[in-house]
Amino acid sequence: MNKVSNEKARPVQDKDVYMLAVETSCDETSVAVVKNGREVLVNLVASQIETHKAFGGVVPEVASRQHVECITLLLEQAIAESGLQPDELDAIAVTEGPGLVGALLVGIMAAKALAFALDKPLIGTHHIAGHIYANQLIADVQYPAIALVVSGGHTEIVRMESEGRFEVMGQTRDDAVGEAYDKVARALGFPYPGGPHVDKAAQASESTVTLPRVWLEEGSYDFSLSGLKSAVLNLVNQSRMKGEEVDKGGIARGFQESVVEVLVAKAIRAVHEFGAKQLLLCGGVAANGGLRSALTARCEAESIPLLIPPMKYCTDNAAMIGAAAYVKWTRGEVSDLYIKGEPGMSLEDWSVEATASRS
Ligand code: KG4
Ligand code: ZN
Repeated sequence: MNKVSNEKARPVQDKDVYMLAVETSCDETSVAVVKNGREVLVNLVASQIETHKAFGGVVPEVASRQHVECITLLLEQAIAESGLQPDELDAIAVTEGPGLVGALLVGIMAAKALAFALDKPLIGTHHIAGHIYANQLIADVQYPAIALVVSGGHTEIVRMESEGRFEVMGQTRDDAVGEAYDKVARALGFPYPGGPHVDKAAQASESTVTLPRVWLEEGSYDFSLSGLKSAVLNLVNQSRMKGEEVDKGGIARGFQESVVEVLVAKAIRAVHEFGAKQLLLCGGVAANGGLRSALTARCEAESIPLLIPPMKYCTDNAAMIGAAAYVKWTRGEVSDLYIKGEPGMSLEDWSVEATASRS
């Protein structure tokens, strides 16, 4: 993020802040208007899932083209539905990274054009910070906090000492959880995106196929999912070669139990180790029934306050980008008009300035 300090972005006390937010990092085009980083006035999402289904995954060039087709209409519709005049917007937030570069650029160019035309500050925003701050749309985040980020592209345990400051404690060394779910789903014959299908099959199954738990070194907060995914693929291939029927439900359940046990154990350990006041679950896989119920039960048993956004704010959406960008806006930290898509953008680097404080 090219940071500039902008007096226009300094909050005026007692004035509501209206942020228009744009998200195009992957296969959802989304535009939202968020009030004071917490109240969603409008959150429009045009999903491309039906298009990418035919290919069994997201095709970057196709995603970019669809963003181009949707973005102008969504911007107009979001502003109209917010009931605000364009000039009443205080800032324009946009996902700067990580994500598919061509897809990111569509949202960034649209956001820049709007910021320039309306003479409003632009705030390049980190996609994962967005997923984390989706929680602020339901309740105020208490610090220090631990976030368990589980999406199609990311699996991370993030420590937040204070508002807007991020430290990645651990992450996947290979596949992201959602990615592993989608690959397992494909092997079991479910359509893309397969995560919800595996979740449903797992919850419905009475049998379970025991699969390994991948803990890695003692004390590590990292994850590894490719071995588990390969174990599933081997089981499916072996059954097929022997002409046996594949126990789809049992495999789905065994896979889910293995993934969930490790995610929950590491997240809870992080909460205790860092004395976190809250655990925040976020990302597309936060929609997973097995994960939600296991984490909820464990947090209740250990009296750990847990926040989980509603489903519509778990998968990619622009409201979460508006919530995260607000944290920067309150500190007057905005971007210049030279930002570009940053596919590998670091979450730590997007942290608010250590010395900056709310004015
Ligand atoms: O956060 P998200 O919408 O996009 C990324 O930023 O990656 O996450 C999408 C991922 C997909 O891999 C999808 O299969 C997975 O979330 N997902 C699920 C469930 N719902 C969505 N995975 C497991 N169980 C679910 N119920
Ligand atoms: Zn995402």
